[in-house]
Amino acid sequence: MTEYVSVVRGVGGYLPERVLTNDDLAKMVDTTDEWITARTGIKKRHIAADGETTSDLGTVAATRAMNAAGVGPGDIDLIVVATATPDYTFPATATVIQHKLGITQGAAFDLQAVCSGFVFAVATADNFLVRGQFERALVIGAETFSRILDWSDRSTCVLFGDGAGAIVLERQEKAKAGDRGVKGIHLRSDGRFRELLYVDGGPSTTQTVGHLRMVGNQVFKHAVGKISESVRAAAQQAGIDVKDIDWFVPHQANQRILSAVAERLGLDDHKVVSTVADHGNTSAASVPLALAAATDDGRIKQGDLVLIEAIGGGLTWGSALIRI
Ligand code: ACO
Repeated sequence: MTEYVSVVRGVGGYLPERVLTNDDLAKMVDTTDEWITARTGIKKRHIAADGETTSDLGTVAATRAMNAAGVGPGDIDLIVVATATPDYTFPATATVIQHKLGITQGAAFDLQAVCSGFVFAVATADNFLVRGQFERALVIGAETFSRILDWSDRSTCVLFGDGAGAIVLERQEKAKAGDRGVKGIHLRSDGRFRELLYVDGGPSTTQTVGHLRMVGNQVFKHAVGKISESVRAAAQQAGIDVKDIDWFVPHQANQRILSAVAERLGLDDHKVVSTVADHGNTSAASVPLALAAATDDGRIKQGDLVLIEAIGGGLTWGSALIRI
């Protein structure tokens, strides 16, 4: 029987035009550039314009990924959108993006794992492709977290931003793909930790959208250990030594978390892709945006071994190793 792997063909990212700096935030809540920089590494974030939706951001990122891959709307038969800030309660933002891209074939659906959404979406698409059910997937992380923030809560509103990133993942025969493709994946969730990071509204509870609530220092404590364990599990599954990773592309929540994970895994600083200073935490968009940044500037090249990871509300967490 022919064996398949899923290979990254193209990467794209999009950030809304409007930039909100730490100094801008200091005029809105009781905070300072010094506090935000020292605790998180964030200097600025992008905010969607009035009327600019998650699907708008996702559509631009997807178009850029398709252009990078040299494929068109007729070539995509699966769209998985990771988002916690969909355009509507339903239909799925994936179907809105599908329509905006002029794609009429295949399937499109959303996936909800908050900040870990992109890693979960890569795992989902990879399984469909490897089983031979679809040929070519758009895996998108797109968020407008600015719409669910409590802008009077300094402990959360300084951390997040809007944006979108996407990859084109293609089914290829393993024998022809060389060593390329998704190698190892590890996913975890534990609902006991719901209270640490959640939105206090929803269709079935309050019939409102709600606002993000987080016990940041508790999430921080879980992050480093859980991510490191997940990465080791993914590496073991793939038969890869963590030392052989070329690029570490983590979820961009906090510079202190990503540096601590890199240190615990024994990865040199120069292998860490960090966009946290420029984008803040864009939830499910953060990993593909960082991938796009490091691909566009020529750091990540074909053949490189890339590690992605994330932790988010749920709690959910996971990691994946991909030979680009
Ligand atoms: N400016 C100034 N002071 C502030 C601010 C602010 N913006 N926010 C909080 N403080 C104050 C607090 O009130 C507290 O004051 P107190 O000591 O008088 O009570 C003090 O700063 C320390 O607060 P902590 O929350 O303990 O600060 P900490 O060092 O933990 O940093 C932070 C907070 C940056 C949120 C950190 O905990 C963090 O990054 N956590 C992880 C978040 C994360 O990774 N999320 C990932 C998933 S996101 C998702 O899934 C949607």
